Amino acid sequence: MTNTITKKANNQSYNIEEWKRGYDSQPNEYEYEIKNIEGEIPSELSGTLFRNGPGLLDIGGSALHHPFDGDGMISAFSFKDGKAYYRNRFVQTEAYLQEQEAEKILYRGVFGTQKSGGWLNNIFDLKLKNIANTGVIYWGDKLLALWEAAEPHRLDPKTLNTLGIDYLDGVLEPGDAFAAHPWIDPSCEMDDGAPCLVNFRVDPGLSSKITLLEFAPDGKLLRRHAHSVPGFSFIHDFIITPQYAIFFQNPVNFNPLPFLFGIRGAGECVEFQPDKPTSIILIPRDPNNKEIKTFSVESGFVFHHANAFEKGSKVYIDSIAYQTLPQVQPNSNYKEVDFNSLDPGQLWRFTLNLEDGTVDRQMLDCRCCEFPTHNPNRVGRDYRYLYIGAAHNDTGRNAPLQAIMKLDLQTKERQLHSFAPSGYVSEPIFVPKPNAEREDAGWLLTLVYDSSKHRSTLAILDGENLTAEAIALLHLKHHIPYGLHGSWCDKVFI
Ligand SMILES: [Fe+2]
Repeated sequence: MTNTITKKANNQSYNIEEWKRGYDSQPNEYEYEIKNIEGEIPSELSGTLFRNGPGLLDIGGSALHHPFDGDGMISAFSFKDGKAYYRNRFVQTEAYLQEQEAEKILYRGVFGTQKSGGWLNNIFDLKLKNIANTGVIYWGDKLLALWEAAEPHRLDPKTLNTLGIDYLDGVLEPGDAFAAHPWIDPSCEMDDGAPCLVNFRVDPGLSSKITLLEFAPDGKLLRRHAHSVPGFSFIHDFIITPQYAIFFQNPVNFNPLPFLFGIRGAGECVEFQPDKPTSIILIPRDPNNKEIKTFSVESGFVFHHANAFEKGSKVYIDSIAYQTLPQVQPNSNYKEVDFNSLDPGQLWRFTLNLEDGTVDRQMLDCRCCEFPTHNPNRVGRDYRYLYIGAAHNDTGRNAPLQAIMKLDLQTKERQLHSFAPSGYVSEPIFVPKPNAEREDAGWLLTLVYDSSKHRSTLAILDGENLTAEAIALLHLKHHIPYGLHGSWCDKVFI
């Protein structure tokens, strides 16, 4: 068995030098119709794919310490009548404009980017740079670029010009956080089956305050309620069911001193505590129900959840879990990563028994994976098909994401569409076909960094048959650095 694993691990599907170039900055802003296409864009595919992620990995030639500190750059792919149009713009945050003007780093990054001049020039400088680089969503007729530690920025959905910080019609106060991982409940029981947007904010401290926020399709606030949970919380994502908003409180400690003294970024002061359990917190979405349920499960670190659903007295949660959280170290270089030395993200199912308070956990797949998605009409509901960015090999070791995997949770059948050896995928987004009845009848859109040509390609895959040839490959004229999250909007903005 060991020999098999070693043999597979040695059969490396990627080239680390080629992978690194996907982190080259993209300082240019483009606007053009995509003409270099293999295959055919489905004429029924109508709408806009928005994506967010760091566009700059250096400022004035000074490298950032971590990609998460990179200025947010929004890409928009608009589809209409079998044609596709591309546009990208940096979010014109106050800090982006200041630093581009100065051509140097003026702010400390949460993930360890420091101003020049050593710790003396960084000590007690706690100004946060709202870099708007994590998520993007169109809701209530607003396009919002999201970063979890501060307010969203509003952009014009057609031009991608930044209109400014958006306080959601007074829902947020200056300085308020707004998470980068909202979910759309496709049919909210509290709103007579209308869809609603659910998001949260965390105010961490010795105890942490989690505020739930739900918005109507016109952007108006429907529900807001805050809950205090014991202990420090580092919560990036959450998941919803019709009744609950579910949070994983990872076992971490926060020691702010290295941050205060200008030695580390705030994010580098989060320490994983492997001997402590993870708390799973169920907050009722109905503000009239104050009964929070808390479960405890063996340690692990979860950034992202795939989905959750209720069935009888059980709640099922599918998430990507890591055995340990690798701490970003000062003086380290994120491009010099040894994938083999890091724990992989793996897909787990957590089954919560509401009657006896126990949790059962089961690994659904050992392959290294991240960025799960599924049919958006199944958010919070029992579902059959899960799609996820995955390593090319199923060795169970960490590796760059080079493939999209489809899991049939009923039959356990897996399908893989790999872009190895030269392609590196981003988060897939599932777009249901109009009037589709099958859950997997839809298109999978994923941006692929093609290291052989140093350019990015948007792949349109068949959700029903992932192993088939791509329906279309839309080759851009340039690359887009590895990004974070995106979303689909049925409206076309051309
Ligand atoms: Fe995320």
